[in-house]
Amino acid sequence: MARNEKQWNAHPDPSRIEWADSRIYSDEEIFEEELEKIWKKVWIPVCHESELAEPYDFRTMTIAREPIIVCRDTDDKIRAFLNVCPHRANLIERRPSGSFKDGTPSGNPKNMTCMFHAWQFDMKGRCVHISRAEEGYQDRLSPKDVGLRRLRCEVAFGGMVWVTLNDHIEHSVKDWVGSALDCILEPLEMEPLEIFHYHKSIIPSNYKLWHDTNSEFYHDFVHYHNRVTGFNDAYFARKNMTFDNGHVVVGSFEVQYDQYEGFESREALSFPTLPPNNWYMIDIFPGINYNLRGSALRVDLMTPLSANEVMIEFRGLGLKSDSEEDRLTRIRHHNTIWGPMGRNLHEDLLSITGQGVTMRPGTEPRHILHGRHENETIHDEIGMRHYYDTWAEWMGRPLHNPTNRPPVAAAE
Ligand code: FES
Ligand SMILES: [Fe+2]
Repeated sequence: MARNEKQWNAHPDPSRIEWADSRIYSDEEIFEEELEKIWKKVWIPVCHESELAEPYDFRTMTIAREPIIVCRDTDDKIRAFLNVCPHRANLIERRPSGSFKDGTPSGNPKNMTCMFHAWQFDMKGRCVHISRAEEGYQDRLSPKDVGLRRLRCEVAFGGMVWVTLNDHIEHSVKDWVGSALDCILEPLEMEPLEIFHYHKSIIPSNYKLWHDTNSEFYHDFVHYHNRVTGFNDAYFARKNMTFDNGHVVVGSFEVQYDQYEGFESREALSFPTLPPNNWYMIDIFPGINYNLRGSALRVDLMTPLSANEVMIEFRGLGLKSDSEEDRLTRIRHHNTIWGPMGRNLHEDLLSITGQGVTMRPGTEPRHILHGRHENETIHDEIGMRHYYDTWAEWMGRPLHNPTNRPPVAAAE
């Protein structure tokens, strides 16, 4: 029976079924607080080391709106800085990636140059040139006083470059991730990886809705491919596992790729030590996903842009030692399922776009069910519940009543 307004707005009994108030996905104040309390406090894998293959290579990005630059130095070390000029806060580098080796029109080779007044910085973040320094500043300003803001940076877990805005973070990346990635650690670390695919999507939806799709596989009903190649006893026996800090492993099983017309077994190109055609998926709090389908690794990074907008960057990785032919096969395996025109990806993106439509800022609060219990197996929503337990702890906001504003009163 369809429900009237009062019935529609009546809260489900949380002792019977878990749910969240949709304002966790739509409230602007909550979004701003998430940036401060979560995104500025944790480790984020901003890119892969192979994107900075040579000294002087760089890559730019943002974390919680703060512009970041990572670059490789001549000692091979990758360092991270705020991409903000200490002079008058101009954005120093505007390109998404490139090299400082040959210099820019306004600067010298091997330094980064702020185009505004041509101050220069080396790969260690030291200021090495202030234009007309003596004439303007006499002895009142030394280059030593105006180095870049350095950020903590570690390369870990398959060569991802992790950066945090939090100088005082208590964990190393290894401690932060803990044993959540243990199930694919050997395949990830046995030999160097290399990026072969990058694309990004900007979706009008809240970032957590994307993480939710990666945390629950009940939504495999949207994926024809997964139903055909999975949905057998081994699939339904997969167990979710939860880890400290809100991370989740979504079990593993052997995908029957040959059940889908045009697809083939991925056994020959399995990552080292990986059982043939096994699929592993690991969700790292607050919005990172490692997804290993036998021959291709996908790593998703989300950059929340507003309460109702998220940028998702998709990276595809293979083994650095790949022959040209193997690499082409890996790329095909990756793109046919996960590329922008792949079999699965658009289905996930369309789903969260639909959720984004119904949960725009200002829409009435809705009840979002997180309540499937199925012995912690693949369609159990324990992964989402674990994530939101951690989220509620970091935010100090209960899921049922996350704002101080009461829900719209139900009419009598
Ligand atoms: S703002 Fe960068 S040199 Fe002036
Ligand atoms: Fe999906």
